[in-house]
Amino acid sequence: MQPRVTTILASLFTLGFGLLALWFFLPSSTFTHTVILKPKVLPAFYQGGLQKGSGGQLEHNWDAVDPSNLFSPSQARNSSNALLPGIAFPSPESCGSCHAGIHNVWQQSLHSVSATDDWYLRVKEFFAFERGEPAVRLCAGCHAPVALMTGEVGLYNRESASSRQGVSCGFCHTLDAVHGSNGAYVSNPSRVRAYFGADGLENTANGSSLGNQISRFLLWQKPQAHIQDMGRGTNSSVLASGQVCQACHSFTINNVKVQSTWDEWQNSSAAKKGVSCQGCHFKSSGQSGTLEPGKIANGQARGQVFAHTLGGGSTIQSPRASENLETLKQSLKLESKISNGLLEVKVTNVMGGHQIPTGVTDLRQLWLEVTALNSSGQTVFKSGTLDAAGNIQAGSSVFHVVLVDAQGQKLERHDIWRAAKILEDTRIPADGWTIRNFKLPTEAREVRVRLLWRDVPASFAALVLKVPGSSIPVRELGVWRGRALR
Ligand code: HEC
Ligand code: HEC
Ligand code: HEC
Ligand code: HEC
Ligand code: HEC
Repeated sequence: MQPRVTTILASLFTLGFGLLALWFFLPSSTFTHTVILKPKVLPAFYQGGLQKGSGGQLEHNWDAVDPSNLFSPSQARNSSNALLPGIAFPSPESCGSCHAGIHNVWQQSLHSVSATDDWYLRVKEFFAFERGEPAVRLCAGCHAPVALMTGEVGLYNRESASSRQGVSCGFCHTLDAVHGSNGAYVSNPSRVRAYFGADGLENTANGSSLGNQISRFLLWQKPQAHIQDMGRGTNSSVLASGQVCQACHSFTINNVKVQSTWDEWQNSSAAKKGVSCQGCHFKSSGQSGTLEPGKIANGQARGQVFAHTLGGGSTIQSPRASENLETLKQSLKLESKISNGLLEVKVTNVMGGHQIPTGVTDLRQLWLEVTALNSSGQTVFKSGTLDAAGNIQAGSSVFHVVLVDAQGQKLERHDIWRAAKILEDTRIPADGWTIRNFKLPTEAREVRVRLLWRDVPASFAALVLKVPGSSIPVRELGVWRGRALR
């Protein structure tokens, strides 16, 4: 009996070493598709393609409707053309167990909450009631890409960890391709190799199982293969070019471009200078040593690391709201002058990466508040002030996009699926400025101009968030004071 056990142990030992040797000497590509993905049973609402105009669900002529695509009306696809198990996508925590610095900043970005953000859920629910539950796959393509791929999308969010991931590490870093806007990407999480250990992907940040420990050990021995898999090796153009951002930051619905950040950037001076989206938004810091495990790039400290800081125009929802506000202030320049009772205000976009505002421009509000007092301190002129409900007074200088439906009604709930045309686009162009003139009354003396920002209009607050419009904070980005002398 004894000798047989020894033989078995010896063979297992040799086999183990053999496999290790294979790992070290075979080319990286040998291991690429080691995670076996078992397609799941389709939930009821995934069965059957969506038809244009059927059942009152999708009567709009969406650019993206494709009955052959499981994920339609989203243009998203995956490499196996099937639903994937949640375990296919590594949790952000599992990446964070080594890349702690990047994980921390990602967690403070809206990408980490894009699937669970309350504002999004409210509008999504409204959309589902209006267009039917299957239609929410459109939203999920950009807001909950992992849940879309795992079939956990619906009217209400599922409780699993994978369905709540948002725009995660394991999603972006395993894309095979991006074919255009409107969520047109090809996801391939099998690029994450088995060395993470099947259970290591889903459950463990610190990898307590033996398989997980071996996986982690192997990764450290040969990080080059891992770097390649995560889209930073030779086959890295999707990430490096910023094309990954195009997939979600350019959005056309009913032939109306409701988000155009990518297009704006393409025509900007930043793009011409070779500054990509991540060149600004992932704020390369010089502190590679404090950010990463192997000091990045095979143990060499580097001058530049993509820190995934993100930032943007969200000053309420974003955990980085105060930093975002500072960035906004630095991105715009306010100048004014008065001659012959005419006030001229110039607002310049000094950031130069895209228009301001960009993204959800039907929501973001940038405007001028102008007040003038007479010699006894009474207000004789005002523009851009708020009424009791928080609405900006009619006729003010607002820099934004107004979307209207087929009846010409202004869209006030981010109900973009009703968009029929852009009525007005008065934003500050990238690398440009906008000038507005105000005719002041003759008795005007002290003049104040404020450049103001609000994440959402009072109407959205009242109709969607169900809070008083006046409760949405108004941020001051710049102020100018002068005298009207006659
Ligand atoms: C899978 C879709 C997707 C991809 C890919 C994507 N984004 Fe986003 N991004 C979103 C969504 C959705 C939000 C809004 C989340 C929310 O508020 O619910 C967002 C928000 C943002 C914001 C606003 C953040 C804030 O805190 O105000 C910035 C900036 C941003 N993304 C930049 C980028 C850049 C740069 C890239 C490319 C490296 C990128 N995104 C790739 C979907 C995506
Ligand atoms: C067991 C630790 C570990 C885990 C878990 C891990 N990584 Fe890494 N990662 C590394 C090491 C080590 C390197 C190489 C560091 C170096 O180049 O110095 C690396 C490098 C990278 C790079 C390339 C960096 C460069 O220099 O271009 C990317 C991208 C990356 N990892 C993404 C991820 C993502 C996404 C996940 C989760 C799916 C993940 N990593 C999980 C340890 C880990
Ligand atoms: C929105 C998509 C997106 C998400 C989400 C994302 N990354 Fe990245 N990541 C990128 C891009 C783009 C780059 C830069 C690639 C380039 O320019 O070559 C990058 C670079 C990196 C690098 C290399 C940094 C360097 O400078 O060497 C690491 C490591 C990394 N990511 C890890 C992570 C981890 C860990 C997470 C989750 C906590 C994560 N990423 C989430 C898109 C993303
Ligand atoms: C030159 C630097 C620069 C470049 C390049 C750049 N951005 Fe920005 N971006 C900013 C700054 C600064 C802000 C904050 C001011 C604002 O909201 O417009 C911002 C804001 C945003 C917002 C938030 C808008 C809002 O109000 O909700 C999104 C989304 C965004 N950028 C995405 C992108 C994407 C995607 C790209 C590439 C196509 C890109 N950015 C390229 C600097 C840049
Ligand atoms: C093509 C990608 C894409 C699709 C499809 C999409 N969104 Fe978005 N959505 C975004 C991006 C990117 C942002 C963030 C832009 C910014 O920060 O300015 C965003 C922001 C939002 C916001 C504002 C969140 C905040 O915190 O400020 C809401 C609400 C929202 N989306 C709802 C929806 C709903 C509902 C659907 C489906 C009808 C949908 N979106 C479809 C890309 C998309």
